[in-house]
Amino acid sequence: MNIIIDCDPGVDDALAILTAAKQPELNILAITSVSGNLPGEITYKNAKLLAQAAGLSCPVGRGADQPLVKEARNAGVTHGSDGLGGHAIELAAYEKPYEVLDAVEVLKEQLLASDEKVVLVVLGPMTNIALLFQKYPEVKDKIEKISFMGGSLCGGNANTYGEFNIYVDPEAAGIVIESGIPMIMAGLDVTLKAFVTKDDLKVWEDLGNPIAAFAAHCCLHYGSHDPALHDPCSILVLTHPELFTTMLGKLSVCCDEGDHRGETYLNPVSKSDICTILQNVDRKAFIGHITEALKQY
Ligand code: RIB
Ligand code: CA
Repeated sequence: MNIIIDCDPGVDDALAILTAAKQPELNILAITSVSGNLPGEITYKNAKLLAQAAGLSCPVGRGADQPLVKEARNAGVTHGSDGLGGHAIELAAYEKPYEVLDAVEVLKEQLLASDEKVVLVVLGPMTNIALLFQKYPEVKDKIEKISFMGGSLCGGNANTYGEFNIYVDPEAAGIVIESGIPMIMAGLDVTLKAFVTKDDLKVWEDLGNPIAAFAAHCCLHYGSHDPALHDPCSILVLTHPELFTTMLGKLSVCCDEGDHRGETYLNPVSKSDICTILQNVDRKAFIGHITEALKQY
């Protein structure tokens, strides 16, 4: 399965990339970054660093610094000032000089060049994907489905109803969700149940390799604010769908001003395709698959 990961690393994005890189079923064609948890220059630096630490040779493209309409909003202290829980320094040994590429161009080139349809894994605000569809609508035919972390049918974490990724750029989310491409939604309904515990981090620390230790260290900081490993849900649903229970529905996004801005809701007359909405997760098995991936570094 050819995939492209669009992300805003971010600690849980980091765990998603490190986990994806060790899934034999997944061929990561590219990683693209977007402003979200941190400003764009930090999320790009982290995306490149994580790709190098994970041993990936795929292109890494730098994406949007601003949402389509409103000013960028970042996630405050949750991911630490470096976006990796204050532990980016632990990956310094992997850092190599690199050429800065443009995310939308990388997405377009990789999608058109792929000899099979591609799964987009979207782990941050959807700005890059919306810009891609606006500039190169023809690429939609090369996308099998979009597995995204975002949205919620059970209340928000950025405001009363809005989940962060959607809340930061609801206009972009509306363009993507209503594109008619099949979607898998890992919203807060499931991701808040995909939490990591201090015992899990001890297991990672004891695996005895620097990447597993980094994962444990950055989650220690992150976990004191938000122990939910949101983003790896959108990866592991592709390789281990049995970990999750689901429901089906058509989605819309509220782009109005006020409390409901960024809210995702079921809408039977939405232009969206039928969306597979993750509901529950076998948390222990979910963490077990991340542990298995970390063991391989
Ligand atoms: O609401 C959680 C989502 O927002 C996650 O993807 C996290 O990394 C942030 O991007
Ligand atoms: Ca993210």
